[in-house]
Amino acid sequence: MLSPMKIALLGYGRMGREVEKAALARNHEICLVIDISNTRELNEKNLAMADMAIDFSTPDSAYENIITCFQSGTPIVCGTTGWLARFDEVKKMCTEKGHAFFYASNFSLGVNILFSLNRYLARIMNNFNDYDCSIEEVHHIHKLDAPSGTAITLARDLLEALDRKLQWELNQASEPSSLKISAIRENEVPGTHTITYDSAVDSIAIRHSAKNRTGLAQGAVLAAEFLLGKKGYYTMSDLLGF
Ligand SMILES: NC(=O)c1ccc[n+]([C@@H]2O[C@H](COP(=O)([O-])OP(=O)(O)OC[C@H]3O[C@@H](n4cnc5c(N)ncnc54)[C@H](O)[C@@H]3O)[C@@H](O)[C@H]2O)c1
Repeated sequence: MLSPMKIALLGYGRMGREVEKAALARNHEICLVIDISNTRELNEKNLAMADMAIDFSTPDSAYENIITCFQSGTPIVCGTTGWLARFDEVKKMCTEKGHAFFYASNFSLGVNILFSLNRYLARIMNNFNDYDCSIEEVHHIHKLDAPSGTAITLARDLLEALDRKLQWELNQASEPSSLKISAIRENEVPGTHTITYDSAVDSIAIRHSAKNRTGLAQGAVLAAEFLLGKKGYYTMSDLLGF
């Protein structure tokens, strides 16, 4: 039987509210909710009540929130994207100082299967230079960052496997060695990612389309259960085993 956790939610927007539902459904308790109007309440005293923090806030606030959790000794699961410039610093701090940190640009099982397929397909396509590769991501109009963290993860894996691609560019490919990521903002789309290989004679595509945010929120709660009692940096491959 899983032990119930007391969870601090950092960010109570679309994802924060979904995580709350997923956590309650698994018998966890929400002991603290932090959003823009009460950021001062994110302090050591209040975090002492929590076994775990889960952050789905904003690109501008995730770094500070993570550091506050580290200082309080509170394990933290972070899904916020768009703050990658400071990511290596956080990872280093976590491993050197023995904090507990779980990060995923996407917590859904389906997207993590797509990540795996993307790496596999890219290894094959590295031998076929007639195919140009590109990524398209579509999200709701409220999304603050572009391209999505998920698209950046897909691009990073493609750059590693495809010798003909050296860097990614947003909404353009100024040279053949550039991997184009198109970021489209449309209505309330929860998130669609497509990787396409296009040649003069045909095209091959793999795609994941989220139908809602439930899978993302459930994945974040599973990550929190996995992180409890551990030290160090973890991600979805540790949780899922592929
Ligand atoms: N990793 C994943 O699986 C995944 C999935 C969906 C979204 N995301 C990312 O999660 C983040 C949140 O997404 P969302 O759709 O819930 O956005 P949202 O805009 O609906 O919610 C963000 C919330 O954070 C609040 N906030 C602002 N400053 C804060 C602070 N200092 N501390 C705490 N909260 C603060 C905002 O007021 C808002 O309510 C985004 O970066 C998004 O890209 C990641």
